[in-house]
Order: sequence, then structure tokens, then C-alpha cells
Amino acid sequence: MKNIKDIYVLGIESSCDETGAAIVRNGTDVVASVVASQIEFHQKFGGVVPEIASRKHLEMLNPVLDDVLEKAQLTYEDLDAVAVTIGPGLVGALLMGLGAAKVISYVKGLPLVGVNHIEGHIYANLIDHPDLKPPLISLVVSGGHTMLVYMEDFGIYEPLGQTLDDAVGEAYDKVASFLGLGYPGGPIIDEMAKKGDPTAIQFPRAMLKKGELNFSLSGLKTAVLNYVSHLNLDAHELPLHDLTASFQAAVVDVLVVKTIRAAREKGVDKIVLAGGVAANSYLRERMIAETKREGLLLYYPHIFLCTDNAIMIAVAGYYRYLAGDRITLEANPIPNLRLGQKIEA
Ligand code: KG4
Ligand code: ZN
Repeated sequence: MKNIKDIYVLGIESSCDETGAAIVRNGTDVVASVVASQIEFHQKFGGVVPEIASRKHLEMLNPVLDDVLEKAQLTYEDLDAVAVTIGPGLVGALLMGLGAAKVISYVKGLPLVGVNHIEGHIYANLIDHPDLKPPLISLVVSGGHTMLVYMEDFGIYEPLGQTLDDAVGEAYDKVASFLGLGYPGGPIIDEMAKKGDPTAIQFPRAMLKKGELNFSLSGLKTAVLNYVSHLNLDAHELPLHDLTASFQAAVVDVLVVKTIRAAREKGVDKIVLAGGVAANSYLRERMIAETKREGLLLYYPHIFLCTDNAIMIAVAGYYRYLAGDRITLEANPIPNLRLGQKIEA
């Protein structure tokens, strides 16, 4: 039963390879969440295949929506708004979630709210820290994005740096694939590196010069490839623990230095991790230690809120709903949507 004063937002996520639906009360209480992962269908291709992603979303959206309502013990009549990822992401994949959200909005007469997927990743932090307020610096690290953002206020973002080539999650996935470890590579490397020595191999730390806040991961990826080729060993003989630990150390060193640099540059004391790679245990460990040493406050979401899910979309959607932001039934996906870009649809 619903208390009349409560606001229930249904979030729908379909920007990449997870079909998600979640119901969140008042922007903080997770009533129910369902994520149907498509990983097994993309695994044999070593990455996400857009056509397969769209088809699987189409297949999974209805069961996922039924499931979330059943888990929540609610009906569409109990909801106050539908929030959906409108971008950035794969256009065909986004289209599926957006289509479903439009149908629900039209048939049930519910307000329709478009959410920026990256903003969703940042807002995932509000579940455990509802009092978290900008100004803050967010390090967004996922399979598709790597950026440092100054969030001056809710909805107001200044990008400070981004990757010039691969995203961090993408680098993890490519290195894991090259080493024959499987897909997605991030969690596998995370586990494997725990038994390795991060100082065993000196891989390059790119773009560390003073003031630089952009990232580059492709040189590191090539360095790992070259190192392994020169070893001239069979796959089973590779020093996988040391290799993965040293690769990870090179990535994390740069992320930590630049995030703290960005906080100093903007004079803020709050740092917020966001995106799939924020689940990484070594990144968290190093960030905890360095922010403590520097007297900064660190926030990061629960592991299950780091990778793609619809809870974060419902949370970001709740704030957009309160601000009066709406999209129409004519809205199209915006595959290259930037953080802070006004969603006009
Ligand atoms: O946020 P996300 O689910 O999707 C995008 O919006 O891209 O992020 C997925 C990425 C993948 O590249 C995956 O390998 C990486 O996050 N990832 C991790 C870990 N868990 C997921 N990377 C490093 N360590 C992890 N524990
Ligand atoms: Zn994501």
C-alpha cells in the first residue's frame, strides 16, 4: 500500500547490455530492482554487439517490468513518474527502453522524465548518502566513459578531463581479452590482481604532467601487449597475477593523482566515484587511503550500484521530476548526450 505523500519513480535502463527496471521511493528507498544481464550473449564476441543488445532488450523489457512491479507489490497506478535513460549509449538499445517508457507514460498517464546515464551513475551515490550535496568532484569510470567532472550544483557540471582514447573499463576488458581471461575483464582482473605484486612490472603512467586532467589508456594497453609478446611464453605460463596487478596499479595511480588534483584545483573537499570501475577493490582501497591522507571526503556506491542498473536512473529521475523536467512522446534517444546537456525532447 502506498502512502499518498510518497513519490514513486519507476526507472528504466537499457543503454548498453543490461536491461534494468527499478522502483525507488522519495529518491532514496529502493523498493525493488531487477537487472537482466545479457553478458552471456556477448561473451563469445568479446564485447557488446549492438544488434544483439537491442534484440535482448526487446525480449527482456516486459518480463523485467512485470518482475519489478511484483517484487514491489505495486501496480502502475501507484507510480508518480517514469524515468528512462535517454543517452548516452547505443542508439538501438536506448530506443527499446525509451519505447517501453513512452508506452507506460501514455497508457497510464504518467509524467515521462529523460535521464542522462552518466548522471545516473553519479546519483547512485545518493542511495547510501542522501545528504550528499555538491560542490564535488566526480570520477566517472565505466566501460564507455572516463571523465573527471566538477559538479557545482545538482544538474550543473563542468567537465575537467576525459580519456583521449579508451575508457578505463574498456582497457580492463581489452587487456583481459588479450590475456584470454574472459569478458567482462574488470571483475576478473580485480580478483586476479589480488594475488599479484603491483610493483612487479613497471608499466607507463600516461599524461601525468602538471595540470593535466585528461587521460590516455591506449599506450598502457599496448605496453601490456608488447610485454607479453616479448615474454614469448605459452598462455598458461604467463605471470598473470603480477601482470594484472601491475596493469591495474598503472591505471589506478593515474586515476588517484588526477582526481585529487581536480579537487585541489576546484577547492572542493568531496570526491565521488561513479561507474562500473568504481566497483574495483584496488581503486577503492587506494582512494580511501589517499583521500584520508589529503583530508578529503570520499563517497562511492555499493558494488551492485556501480555497474549499470535502473535504481540510479530512478534516483536521478526523481530529482529531474521534482525540478519539472519532462520529455514528450516524440523524444528520441541521444546516443552522444553530454553531461549537463539540456534534454530537449
Ligand atoms: O557502468 P558499466 O556497467 O557500463 C557502462 O556504462 O559502460 O561499466 C562496465 C565496465 C566494464 O568495462 C567492466 O569491466 C567494468 O565496468 N568493471 C570493473 C569492475 N566491475 C566492472 N572494472 C574493474 N574492476 C571491477 N571490479
Ligand atoms: Zn554505465
